[in-house]
Amino acid sequence: MFERIRHAIEKVVRHPRRETIASRGLIQLVGAGPGDPELLTIKAFKALQRADVVLHDRLVGEGVLSLARRGAERIYVGKIGRGESTPQQAIEARMVAEALKGKRVVRLKGGDPFVFGRGGEELEAARAAGIPVEVIPGVSAALGAAAALQIPLTHRDHAQTLIFATGHCKEAGGLGAEPNLDWSTMADPRATLAIYMGIATAGIIAERLQAAGRDPATPVAIVENATLPNQRVVRTRLERMANDLTRSGIAGPALLLIGEAIESADGADFAAYAAATEKLD
Ligand SMILES: C[S@@+](CC[C@H](N)C(=O)[O-])C[C@H]1O[C@@H](n2cnc3c(N)ncnc32)[C@H](O)[C@@H]1O
Repeated sequence: MFERIRHAIEKVVRHPRRETIASRGLIQLVGAGPGDPELLTIKAFKALQRADVVLHDRLVGEGVLSLARRGAERIYVGKIGRGESTPQQAIEARMVAEALKGKRVVRLKGGDPFVFGRGGEELEAARAAGIPVEVIPGVSAALGAAAALQIPLTHRDHAQTLIFATGHCKEAGGLGAEPNLDWSTMADPRATLAIYMGIATAGIIAERLQAAGRDPATPVAIVENATLPNQRVVRTRLERMANDLTRSGIAGPALLLIGEAIESADGADFAAYAAATEKLD
């Protein structure tokens, strides 16, 4: 009996029937992956094909957007003007308002919705409005970059820990302010660090990691536009990371991959993504 009820609830939540959608709409938080449209999941593709409205970020490229149903309305909710962002509350309000009209709303987010993507806040907004919501994961930038560069993020000989961190923290203040991170944990020589949004704070990050004991010669790969045709990679060492980043002119979106496992990227075949691999030393 319990099994049957559970199954029925799951069916409505995971595969809402048309009448449920017509009355209250549906919100799908969908991961668009790091850029290469072929990295979309089949679920994400299906959601795009059935969408009435697609609310998308700055980091979602035309390659992915073009996979949306032809009649779907596309609404850009990324940066506007000279870098000012659409306020989060405005995004949530629009997402809910469209769903309340009975529409299928795809909230399309770069990478994975739950990795530095404010997906949790959007999930709460949908739930608070009583709208059925579904989350479809995406390939996060670090995983896309690792595959494109052929860097194993963990390695039995070099890296037993993998840390995803942000170089930009809400409580730390404005752009470039020191991120509030646990430097001693991140100084573990057996940890690979994947640092998102770390371009503006690369100098501070390198300083703090070395002060906490991380080897200045630790290999680093700075990866811009991972998995896209304009992907760029700068391979360097922790002690020169900030300098080489400045010299490269990399402006992002970019990741800092730091750790001994990065060394194994040497000799990798980047041809698949026509990557420009730069060595600044
Ligand atoms: C707001 S976070 C979103 C992360 C996303 N949810 C994910 O799972 O990849 C944006 C940051 O992700 C990283 N990023 C996203 N796409 C990238 C790409 N194609 N190449 C390199 N870094 C990327 C950059 O550090 C960028 O500043």
